[in-house]
Amino acid sequence: DMDRFIDVLMNKMTLEEKIGQLNLPVTGEITTGQAKSSDIAAKIKKGEVGGLFNLKGVEKIRDVQKQAVEGSRLGIPLLFGMDVIHGYETMFPIPLGLSCTWDMSAIEESARIAAVEASADGISWTFSPMVDVSRDPRWGRVSEGSGEDPFLGAMIAEAMVRGYQGKNMQRNDEIMACVKHFALYGAGEAGRDYNTVDMSRQRMFNDYMLPYEAAVEAGVGSVMASFNEVDGIPATANKWLMTDILRGQWGFNGFVVTDYTGISEMVDHGIGDLQTVSARAINAGVDMDMVSEGFVGTLKKSVQEGKVSMETLNTACRRILEAKYKLGLFDNPYKYCDPKRPARDIFTKAHREAARRIAAESFVLLKNDSPEGNPNGNPLLPFNPKGNIAVIGPLANSRTNMPGTWSVAAVLDRSPSLVEGLKEMTAGKANIMYAKGSNLISDAAYEERATMFGRSLNRDGRTDQQLLDEALNVARRSDIIIAALGESSEMSGESSSRTDLNIPDVQQNLLKELLKTGKPVVLVLFTGRPLTLTWEQEHVPAILNVWFGGSEAAYAIGDALFGYVNPGGKLTMTFPKNVGQIPLYYAHKNTGRPLKEGKWFEKFRSNYLDVDNDPLYPFGYGLSYTTFSYSDIDLSHSSMDMTGSLTAAVEVTNTGTWPGTEVVQLYIRDLVGSSTRPVKELKGFQKIFLQPGEMKIVRFKIAPEMLRYYNYDLQLVAEPGDFEVMIGTNSRDVKSAKFTLN
Ligand code: IFM
Repeated sequence: DMDRFIDVLMNKMTLEEKIGQLNLPVTGEITTGQAKSSDIAAKIKKGEVGGLFNLKGVEKIRDVQKQAVEGSRLGIPLLFGMDVIHGYETMFPIPLGLSCTWDMSAIEESARIAAVEASADGISWTFSPMVDVSRDPRWGRVSEGSGEDPFLGAMIAEAMVRGYQGKNMQRNDEIMACVKHFALYGAGEAGRDYNTVDMSRQRMFNDYMLPYEAAVEAGVGSVMASFNEVDGIPATANKWLMTDILRGQWGFNGFVVTDYTGISEMVDHGIGDLQTVSARAINAGVDMDMVSEGFVGTLKKSVQEGKVSMETLNTACRRILEAKYKLGLFDNPYKYCDPKRPARDIFTKAHREAARRIAAESFVLLKNDSPEGNPNGNPLLPFNPKGNIAVIGPLANSRTNMPGTWSVAAVLDRSPSLVEGLKEMTAGKANIMYAKGSNLISDAAYEERATMFGRSLNRDGRTDQQLLDEALNVARRSDIIIAALGESSEMSGESSSRTDLNIPDVQQNLLKELLKTGKPVVLVLFTGRPLTLTWEQEHVPAILNVWFGGSEAAYAIGDALFGYVNPGGKLTMTFPKNVGQIPLYYAHKNTGRPLKEGKWFEKFRSNYLDVDNDPLYPFGYGLSYTTFSYSDIDLSHSSMDMTGSLTAAVEVTNTGTWPGTEVVQLYIRDLVGSSTRPVKELKGFQKIFLQPGEMKIVRFKIAPEMLRYYNYDLQLVAEPGDFEVMIGTNSRDVKSAKFTLN
């Protein structure tokens, strides 16, 4: 049916109209780069536009769709894309935070709600999920991904694709997803955005490719090419990647779009002029040109000169038409333009409730000790909302910083600040006192770099000293201090790499002064990436990492602080002790000169002179208001053959006084391989809920498929030999047992 429909349509299309389908200009309403197209209306009329992005609103989209459907010769509908990354108007935690829930149904639900809201506002296509594995927190875009682990990342990729696309993209609240950025964008050298990537194919397939592949397997409709090079060829012109792997090996049958000006940037990469790089992109298997206008500008000439075949052009055009067909746009181009939907479906009470619940689930309790001098020795958190609560810090009363990076459709001033949310929640019970305490960055740093941080810096005219004095006055009158510190939302995300991962000086100074008052201090940490918190871990009694929690973050933080919710988030990215340890990740190799157990330095071993090899907080780490104990591992068999399986079981008991969730994590080490293997790799997890005193047996089935890896010849193999199985509460604190694969 689809094939016949498209054959008939393509028979009527001119060369220019076919090329037009491959063109994706930006409307300029919301920009993320330099270029924008002029005369879009005229181009639509001539059939030179296949889709548009960053336009929203049923009225506007209906109007533009009408120009295409009624104003152009063949009336082919347009795709309307947008970066709907972690929510639409109802914002969920940044993706790195979402991943720390380890809750696939919550993650799918967040994507589903985002799709419902975006589609109600005219959007048919989202540039999400971002599944780039990264081991470098200097890179600002780690905030948009799911952390360092490919196995967890793959599960999240699938959940998000399901959430956005629903069953089959037929309903008017299901939209097309776009997995990005293919490939290896998270591995840029030195954590600098858009930077060079160079790695072995073995590492690519073992550590980076799985999430993209999982999205393809889940039926993702489109793929975005990454800005970086892969094997010396920009991904956007890399035929091995876009055709051999993506389509040949993985069977992808949707379309590939470039990233923003991804084609014209290849001129700067140094592989040719605009005509050359445009031809290379389409010949590599790229179908749609985002913003460069390299296809509309040069493809006709390349076809005439024989540099691009008619067959290649037809294939790309067909893929775009197929996407529109699959979305049902030929049946009803106004499918996403129901004027009744925005009021009914966007920022609803139910969506906001889900956002609040999921935000609290994403928080990671990094530390929870008893404050010094506390007679009962109880941990600081949670505490009852009573007395004088000082909420201090540049992030305490900032609405614009709540949603985090990539909040394109968020109504920025609508989310309550932490102070506002806590006031509402504690009305009649506690006295919430506020002082800003400091700016996000010092006056001196601001002078130098004001423009880089944009709107979220939220400065006023007072000096650092004036702000500090006011805060100390408030702090001295309080019973407890909540220090709301960290990064502004624009200090992570695209083009926001940092080489210093401390909490900015001026805020750290504020924190030190607050601690000197002798009052109990909780650090509520806002951040888009792992920070280096070595000083804080040593000196602050309680640290709750809240990432950027979205529209309902303030209430969710209150829920966690007051114990209405017991935080159970677990880190999906290692927190290093200092920047020099980076890249630091749990699934590292052993080397030929590993440090011996219990040592932190030995001459002629793989280590540093000035810091040990351990992270501050390991992958999978996160505390709870309760405690869990793990029994030893009970293995059903000590060996299995290639067609068998075995079971590893542990008893997990809630040994504390709060009900709580625990993410029970399974890691495996291949002790002897034909290639070297990581010291452990995540191979499973279960999120369980236990009442105080309750015990559950958690069982993991281990089958040979789970032991496979890409060997030197890039074959996916399980190699006979000994394996270690580890189960625990994080990647460091595990029980272990051994088995043999025959
Ligand atoms: O989708 C994004 C991408 O992640 C980064 N560059 C711009 C694109 C479109 O806004």
